[in-house]
Amino acid sequence: MSTPAEKPRPPSARASAAQRYLFLFVLGLVMGVVATVMLMRALQARADHFPSSVMHVQQWHLDQLRAKVEQNRCEATDTLPHLRTLRVMADDLEPAFHDLRDDRRFATAASQMRRTLDASLASPPINCGTLGTATRDIGNACRACHQDFRG
Ligand code: HEC
Repeated sequence: MSTPAEKPRPPSARASAAQRYLFLFVLGLVMGVVATVMLMRALQARADHFPSSVMHVQQWHLDQLRAKVEQNRCEATDTLPHLRTLRVMADDLEPAFHDLRDDRRFATAASQMRRTLDASLASPPINCGTLGTATRDIGNACRACHQDFRG
C-alpha cells in the first residue's frame, strides 16, 4: 500500500534543505553580531575614558551656567560653584590630552581657557548680563581649542 504522504517528498526535501541553509545563515548572522558586540565592548573597556569624561563634565557645567542665564538665576551662589569647577578642571586639559600638550596651539588654547576663567572668578558675574558675557567668553575659549583639535 502506497502512502500518499511520501509522494511530495522531493519538494519537501528541498524545502527542508532551504530551511537548513536559512537557519545556518541566521545563526551565522547572530553569532557575527554577538562577536562584534563583544569585540566593541572589549575595545571600549580598554579605551581611555579620562579625556572625554573631562570634556563632558566641562560641558555640563557650561550648560548649567547657560541655563542660569535663561532661568534668570544669576546670583553668585548659583554660578560660582560651576565657574570654580570649570577652572579646576581646566588644569586637567594637559593630563587628559597628553599627546597634544607639546603642541603650541593646544598649550595656548588651554592657557587662554584658564585665563578666561581666572578673570571670571576675579570679578564674578553679579547679574545675568555679566553672566551671559562670561559664558560667551568661556564658550569661545572652548571653541578656540576645538576648531584646531576636535575631530
Ligand atoms: C585646550 C583644548 C580644549 C579646550 C580648552 C576645551 N576642549 Fe573640549 N575637546 C578638546 C579635544 C582635543 C577634544 C576631542 C577629543 C576626542 O575626540 O578625542 C574635545 C572634545 C570635547 C567634547 C566631546 C567629547 C567626546 O569624547 O565626546 C566635548 C563635549 C567638549 N570637548 C566640551 C568642551 C567644553 C564645554 C569646553 C570649555 C568649557 C572645552 N571642551 C574646552 C580640547 C579642548
